[in-house]
Amino acid sequence: MKSTVLNILLTGGSGYIGSHTAVALTDAGHRIFIFDNYCNSSAETIHKIQAITAQPITVVRGDIRDTALLQQTLETHQIDAVIHFAGLKAVGESAVIPLDYYANNVQGTISLLQAMQAASHAPRALVFSSSATVYGDPQYLPIDEAHPTHATNPYGRTKLHIEEILADLARSDASWQIACLRYFNPVGAHASGLIGENPNGLPNNLMPFVAQVAIGKLKQLKVFGDDYDTPDGTGVRDYIHVLDLAEGHLAALNYLGSHAGMHTFNLGTGRGYSVLEMIRAFEAASGRTVPFTIAPRRPGDIASCYASTALASKALKWNASRDLKAMCESSWKFQQNVMQSVPSTTEQA
Ligand code: NAD
Ligand code: UD1
Repeated sequence: MKSTVLNILLTGGSGYIGSHTAVALTDAGHRIFIFDNYCNSSAETIHKIQAITAQPITVVRGDIRDTALLQQTLETHQIDAVIHFAGLKAVGESAVIPLDYYANNVQGTISLLQAMQAASHAPRALVFSSSATVYGDPQYLPIDEAHPTHATNPYGRTKLHIEEILADLARSDASWQIACLRYFNPVGAHASGLIGENPNGLPNNLMPFVAQVAIGKLKQLKVFGDDYDTPDGTGVRDYIHVLDLAEGHLAALNYLGSHAGMHTFNLGTGRGYSVLEMIRAFEAASGRTVPFTIAPRRPGDIASCYASTALASKALKWNASRDLKAMCESSWKFQQNVMQSVPSTTEQA
């Protein structure tokens, strides 16, 4: 990478994590370009990012499997670095339509890498969105980057396949600078409440579900199991504020400026919270009650999962700093804005 102000392409930049990263990178002075087909987001988010940053953003609407369009985008805007968020991410759905997941995630990534390889100015810096799901059922805690990998569903396998492809590519050509970031559980929203996580249909993940129960859109939460080997019997996860996660991308890009090859980092806080702790924290932040019942365990779920953050802290000089209160308050603010702007019907949980 040649300059301190970078032209950065965000595939999937209109999505939940991409939009927050766009804000963080713009705040740091970089020029942002977004490539998205809006299959799980909308152009409305782009307006919100622009409102927050007061900067125009160039957007290319397209599918990452369109290699020619990607190459053209890379060349036209002289992109220095790519952050690759674009992908499908619903674990349950991936078991129903696995080919769509492999085509979108794996084939899409190969298409992006081919476009980068073919681009005349040869951009080689790439940050990839991987997931803690690649660790499977933890053999020890906290999970460090050397922990064995084992995916238990097609979504997780797409992430593992992509990681292997990236490692092969880095071995084949020493000019690649690749950071593979294994996210733990991103939650929360930008403090403005303008951007956040707003899943279509019934949320799969805990925090958006809790937020929709708190606001009355959903009736009650099902707590999936209270008989795990954890302090209160409910599942423990490493929830990380999405803005901390976004800043982790900036730290990774800075690191790549002086480190070629492929480098894998956990992005988490290093601390776990149970489902019941999350409910209580959200109730405190929102002033609402979150009714719940105890339901059977969700198939495939694990008891506890939290990150060792030592490597990211040492190498990237990055640590998550926002606490659970900030995660819940921002998520609640965003949820209130969503309800105000989009009238929606009440669903039964
Ligand atoms: P998201 O669905 O909000 O964002 C993904 C974006 O990619 C969307 O805007 C979508 O329209 C776009 N997209 C998908 N397929 C595309 C394609 N073929 N061409 C162009 N655009 C496409 O998801 P997110 O939560 O922001 O996640 C971003 C990345 O991080 C994903 O790769 C996901 O697997 C990974 N990840 C997410 C989490 C999480 O909990 N949110 C955890 C670990 C890893
Ligand atoms: C899920 C994904 C994982 C992904 C991660 C981060 C599954 C099986 N796994 O994991 O691949 O990397 O998100 O995005 O989807 N819970 C409830 N009630 C609910 C929802 C969740 O009790 O309605 C509990 C779960 O049992 C778990 C915790 O809340 O203990 C967190 O769940 P969730 O937000 O879905 O994240 P993960 O299970 O970590």
